[in-house]
Amino acid sequence: MAEKIDERPQNSRRVFINNVDAYTSKNIARFLDLCVVGASLVFAGEADVEEEDDRLHDDQAEIKDGTFQIVGTVSSQTEEKCSFIAEQYSHHTKREDLLHHLLKCDVIIYDVTQHADQIDEAQWAVSALYEEMDRFPAAKTFILVSTVLTWAMTKPADKDYPETPLTDSNYRRRKAHPNFHRHISLEKLVVKLGKTKSSRFSTYVVASGLQYGMEEHVFHLFFKMSWMGEVSHVPIFGDGSNIIPTIHINDLAGIIQNVIDHKPKVQYFVAVDDSKNTMEDIIKAITLMLGPGKTRNVSKEEIYLIQNLTQTEIDSLLVNLPIEAPYLKDNFNIQWVSETGMVQNIEQVIEEYKESRGLLPIRMCIVGPPAVGKSTIAEKICKHYNLHHIKLKEAIAEALENLELCVRTEDEENDQDDDQEFWDTLRENMNENGGRLDDQYVIRIMKDKLRTKPCMNQGFVLDGFPKTCEQAKELFTGDGEPEDLESKHATKIIPEFVFSVNATDDFLKNRVLNLPETVVEGTSYMPEQFLQRLARFRDRNVEDEMPLNYFEDLEIHPEHLEITSDNDNEYQLIIDKICKKVGKPRNYGPILEKVEEEKRRQVKERLNEQAAQRVEEERREEEEAQHRDQRWGEWSQHLVEVKRQELDLLESQSEPLRDYLMQDVMPTLTQGLIECCRLRPDDPIDFLAEYLLQNNPEA
Ligand SMILES: *[C@@H]1O[C@H](CO)[C@@H](O)[C@H](O)[C@H]1NC(C)=O
Ligand SMILES: *[C@@H]1O[C@H](CO)[C@@H](O)[C@H](O)[C@H]1NC(C)=O
Ligand SMILES: *[C@@H]1O[C@H](CO)[C@@H](O)[C@H](O)[C@H]1NC(C)=O
Repeated sequence: MAEKIDERPQNSRRVFINNVDAYTSKNIARFLDLCVVGASLVFAGEADVEEEDDRLHDDQAEIKDGTFQIVGTVSSQTEEKCSFIAEQYSHHTKREDLLHHLLKCDVIIYDVTQHADQIDEAQWAVSALYEEMDRFPAAKTFILVSTVLTWAMTKPADKDYPETPLTDSNYRRRKAHPNFHRHISLEKLVVKLGKTKSSRFSTYVVASGLQYGMEEHVFHLFFKMSWMGEVSHVPIFGDGSNIIPTIHINDLAGIIQNVIDHKPKVQYFVAVDDSKNTMEDIIKAITLMLGPGKTRNVSKEEIYLIQNLTQTEIDSLLVNLPIEAPYLKDNFNIQWVSETGMVQNIEQVIEEYKESRGLLPIRMCIVGPPAVGKSTIAEKICKHYNLHHIKLKEAIAEALENLELCVRTEDEENDQDDDQEFWDTLRENMNENGGRLDDQYVIRIMKDKLRTKPCMNQGFVLDGFPKTCEQAKELFTGDGEPEDLESKHATKIIPEFVFSVNATDDFLKNRVLNLPETVVEGTSYMPEQFLQRLARFRDRNVEDEMPLNYFEDLEIHPEHLEITSDNDNEYQLIIDKICKKVGKPRNYGPILEKVEEEKRRQVKERLNEQAAQRVEEERREEEEAQHRDQRWGEWSQHLVEVKRQELDLLESQSEPLRDYLMQDVMPTLTQGLIECCRLRPDDPIDFLAEYLLQNNPEA
């Protein structure tokens, strides 16, 4: 591995970051990966020498000239390696091996704001590196990313003016929140170990404000609640007046970049933006932008009911700490993305949130003749993608209801005059038209509906509307300001997908005629009414007046789907076609839960499979054992048989010998024995042998 370091261009830096798959570290890594070493030393303007083009051709995590090469530990190895991470090591890597990896890096960053269990490791790492300092081939920098919670109990800078914010120059007086004593001890250790020989081993502490941006970290809870729109009011814990020091995650990364480039003399920094927003400011800003727009005060203790907040996260959200960071503003060269804080930049922050979490709305329009099954399809699609089903009739009824409610109640927040006027106009118009509304009002109501927070957040399926090309034009490009097609995220409502469901007149007539009378009674599916509606629909959909033309002109090519049978299977086929075209859900909520459930199901299935496999194996083993026993038995039997056969063989083979003995030897022997009895020699054996020898018939 040593050679690999030498291959690296002189000015490139190898950076280690712990937990590089978690929010803070991942975003710092992503940021540094796009930086050129030393860029923050150059003044703005010259600084952004981004080599986008080169990078595109640079598929493998090759070492780039003058850039940061990121390595780090990950908590789960299963996750796919991010493109900006050159090497990753398991969380369980042995310390001895980890030290080996650390020693190959120029910069070691330890973030302890997310997982308190990283404190021990950070403490070990800085101490171990300190011990090895004299053997470093080149100088190393250690950066601890800590939290402003180590300041939470600090006495005000000025006793007489307690509102005066603290600044980073007060850092020696800082006092930690009771749950953050270990953090502050670590901060002190890190600073101390960098004092011995800072030219070889320099150490820094960056005390970060609460991080936001991208996936939003601790604030995600409020973003998600607002986006989902399932509660009417977003809770504020306590009275909401606590000042929360914050920093955009990319600005924090920028500060770290500056520390690496500048290697300043000062070792301790506070990383916060200028905002000094209260909890109430922040939550109100989020919910106003994402919906539902209202907050409610709940007791501080209720925060404990939010199940997956850790103690660290709760302590962080409840902190009250006016603090400023003049040092970095005076000495660093930061390309701030959110210098004035989250509330001031809420629109951009929310765009980023949606993008990072893939929460992009799906907007869809389904058109087709009456009774073709648009609503059934729309309903199923809405369920699958967690979208809002928009039907003209319901939208109008809801609008009237809301207007009436606003006009009747003395609600200061709403602009009553406007509501009153619109309400009067609508009623008048309906009276004149026999209960129908003019297109202009219909369009206004639909436009408002499509611009509600839920429709903007999750998206919608527009069911059977617009009916004409004219309506489409008015609805999507009204207001005299054409929708900005370039900007992906403008408050636009133009559907991304258009489906035209069609069937022959005969089929539709047949279908309606076959509906049971109880269903049809009093609806527009009564035969005459239906035929009129169908005729009207066909009239409207002649070549140049079809709403489909409007979409064609915008290059939103409608997909044509043909219904030919009442079979449920066919509906499912149509739904499958639509889902294939639209792609994966871009939501969390039930859909994500479904995915999780599916994952769990798969895991369970795998477990079941494994269990079944084990049972099968056991069965097989048992069978084999039986087999073995059986074979053993057979074998022993066989053995006996073989022995018997051998004996037989031996016997049969010995037969000629016996015959020979009987025929040729026995008579002589008998004769010999008789002689022996008669003569009674001194040595009968000797005599017998001699006798046999002399009377051998063959001799
Ligand atoms: C809480 O858990 C939900 C799902 O269980 C998750 O989507 C959300 O991100 C978590 N919130 C925080 C703040 O970790
Ligand atoms: C919440 O409490 C604060 C401070 O007591 C108060 O100013 C604010 O109006 C309250 N907000 C709501 C929605 O009740
Ligand atoms: C729908 O089907 C009818 C009858 O088959 C046909 O006349 C019409 O052109 C079709 N419309 C579209 C948009 O395909």
